Amino acid sequence: MKIIQSPRELQQEMGRLRSRGKGIGFVPTMGALHEGHLSLIRKARSENRVVVVSIFVNPLQFGPKDDFKRYPRRIQKDRAMLAKEKVDYLFMPSRSSFYPEGYQTLIEVKDLSRGLCGKFRPGHFQGVATVVAKLFNVTKPHRAYFGAKDYQQALIIKQMASDLNFGVEIRVLPLIRDKKGLALSSRNAYLSFKEKERALAISRSLNWAKKAIRKGNRNVVSIRNGILKSLKSKLRKIDYIEIVEAKSLQPVKSIRGQIVIAVAGWVGETRLIDNVIIRA
Ligand code: PAF
Repeated sequence: MKIIQSPRELQQEMGRLRSRGKGIGFVPTMGALHEGHLSLIRKARSENRVVVVSIFVNPLQFGPKDDFKRYPRRIQKDRAMLAKEKVDYLFMPSRSSFYPEGYQTLIEVKDLSRGLCGKFRPGHFQGVATVVAKLFNVTKPHRAYFGAKDYQQALIIKQMASDLNFGVEIRVLPLIRDKKGLALSSRNAYLSFKEKERALAISRSLNWAKKAIRKGNRNVVSIRNGILKSLKSKLRKIDYIEIVEAKSLQPVKSIRGQIVIAVAGWVGETRLIDNVIIRA
């Protein structure tokens, strides 16, 4: 595995590979890798001649009260995991090489960024869209891989890639859970054993909702209240429980077609998100 830190060097190397007709698969990450990331990397490995993974904890997507400083950084372990997956390139830009002094440009995907996490994390998706655009520009991938745990993020990136003619295929792969059902996230590293148990209420409530919908319940208020009831005593704070149309992320009035139930809430000092995609 070749490790590259300079954006210019990666851009030149990828340009050469592209011109020789090599298919490039790209998995952007912020490190602290887990099975969710590995599922994306394995898919990229199976579909491309060259696999590039980036690790960059992007300051632009963290608000002033967010966990940028505390975000888990485990570079040695990550490198070993990536080498084992036979990743070809690891890109690790420094903050100053990616956002040098005088950096000014931001990308905003308007409507899709408004609701859900966008309401609670102002500027977050601007930071995500901007860094992913920069990563696409230096990596020049044919395909890029994202997890459905960050469902809103995946839609925003799809829209951006299409609006800005990146010519990259965005592949969105299923959310991965641990044995008990907890959605995998690098932030799970913050959770104590007891907090992990409390956090399970989220996936359990989504599972309940899925079953209730399968049995014929199409009532948004009743599904939302059912989820709220099981989360209230377990989470310190609930940011949102939303039932939205899967493509537009607009709240639905009744449960029909492809919808997403998305939840964000706090267990102790850790903010967790989870979702289920349902065709009703
Ligand atoms: O999902 C993430 O880990 C990040 O938001 C991403 C896409 C790597 C951009 O920093």
